Amino acid sequence: MRKPMMIANWKMNKTRDEALSFIYAVNEVLPSLDKVGTVVCAPAIVLRDLVKRQGDNLRIGAENMHYEESGAFTGEISPSMLTTTGVEYVIIGHSERRAYYNETDEAINKKLHAAIKHGLKPILCIGETLEQREQGVTHDVLEGQLTKDLAGLTAENMENVIIAYEPIWAIGTGKTASPEDANEACGFVRNVVKSLFNAAVAEETIVLYGGSMKPANVDALLAQSDIDGGLVGGASLEAESFLKLVNACLK
Ligand code: 13P
Repeated sequence: MRKPMMIANWKMNKTRDEALSFIYAVNEVLPSLDKVGTVVCAPAIVLRDLVKRQGDNLRIGAENMHYEESGAFTGEISPSMLTTTGVEYVIIGHSERRAYYNETDEAINKKLHAAIKHGLKPILCIGETLEQREQGVTHDVLEGQLTKDLAGLTAENMENVIIAYEPIWAIGTGKTASPEDANEACGFVRNVVKSLFNAAVAEETIVLYGGSMKPANVDALLAQSDIDGGLVGGASLEAESFLKLVNACLK
């Protein structure tokens, strides 16, 4: 049985004070981690502060990391720097990093290996552009990304990998994929995982939907068979809205 997960991706938002007030507002009212895997992924500079104050039912994640252990990579953060903050998760390959920082599938693959080696749970993001969807190549894009990004991982490694299907045209645009389209894509992702690993891995892998998920559409998305939760940007920034999304996972 896959446990639902609701993961906030704050992106480049919130000062330290804003981040802490959010954590204090949600800590006491979150459902048990046994029921919903609730994670807040935040800018690196506040991670240690958030981990120190995370309640029993919240876990913290980073939004990115480098794959090298150390070296001349100005402005970057290594896997062991992240683990010393106490974070449990790290987002890898978000479409904004692919688009604005030229992250390739090869680099993303190295990051996944590095995250796993360091005991971090990666949240791998994949998804097609509007142009690709209109050209009817969504499946090819998703399969290509998964094949390259997950190369060399074992079935055992996959126990800690979460996949987020985020159609790029739905991110921050207010346009959500219809629940049926999102489910179709998440089901396809699961099938690719089956062909890359095996049926048991596919059955256990958590596949999230991301792209303008909000309280008004969360129920319809979560009702779908292959959508195990959400990776949420805008609607995760206010505690009240994020709590609604987390609680929707209990239904
Ligand atoms: P929005 O929820 O703001 O569309 O962002 C989705 C996203 O990119 C989460 O990683």
